[in-house]
Amino acid sequence: MRYDLTPETRTLGYKLLTATVTPRPIGWVTSVSPGGIVNAAPYSFFNVMGDAPPVVALGIMGRPDGSLKDTARNILTAKDFVVNLVSRDLAEAMNVTCIDAPPEVSEIDLAKLETLPGAHVAAPRIARAPVSFECVMQQVVETGPVQRLLIGEVKAIHIADACLLDPERGHVDTTGLDLIARMHGAGWYAQARNLFELERPVYGK
Ligand SMILES: Cc1cc2nc3c(=O)[nH]c(=O)nc-3n(C[C@H](O)[C@H](O)[C@H](O)COP(=O)(O)O)c2cc1C
Repeated sequence: MRYDLTPETRTLGYKLLTATVTPRPIGWVTSVSPGGIVNAAPYSFFNVMGDAPPVVALGIMGRPDGSLKDTARNILTAKDFVVNLVSRDLAEAMNVTCIDAPPEVSEIDLAKLETLPGAHVAAPRIARAPVSFECVMQQVVETGPVQRLLIGEVKAIHIADACLLDPERGHVDTTGLDLIARMHGAGWYAQARNLFELERPVYGK
């Protein structure tokens, strides 16, 4: 079966892309509105995109009414944000924060979350998140009329002490982070299970 995508097949394209590009990591983004309201929302069009400098990207779609989502608007104004990663015990709280609340309502309050201040950015991080990246906006790509690809430079990484095997050498207990990822449909998630290892080939060996 071949599906040709056009502006008219937007919903179908979304369904097919999100049902196939799986599992997707979830960037739980905290940002601050011009009025000082702390906003939190999950974004699974998220990944790390480089290390020199270290950068992450967020794909933020437009709202059905043709406006920018609060996260995009806040980051474009404040120029910074925090990406928090979501452990299984935070899944329900993360889900609360995807609500389409108006800009004056803080999803942090709705989900009864606590935050901690950033060292490099004005946006706070979610205290219980096992990992948080403090990011300064580096570039914005207008991928659609109200769709933005936001690229942020990571200025600091916070990792819960309990999830570090060797802090000096930067060895992380990756499975111990117990991170969840987004799967297909509106509400399916995955946990990293059934891991396997492959030896990386070296040419000429
Ligand atoms: C797990 C999860 C992942 C999501 N990923 C995205 C995404 O990558 N891009 C997007 O535009 N919306 C995504 N959404 C929807 C937004 O979280 C939702 O529109 C939210 O209300 C936006 O909040 P904001 O206006 O405060 O930024 C996702 C929702 C969930 C539950």
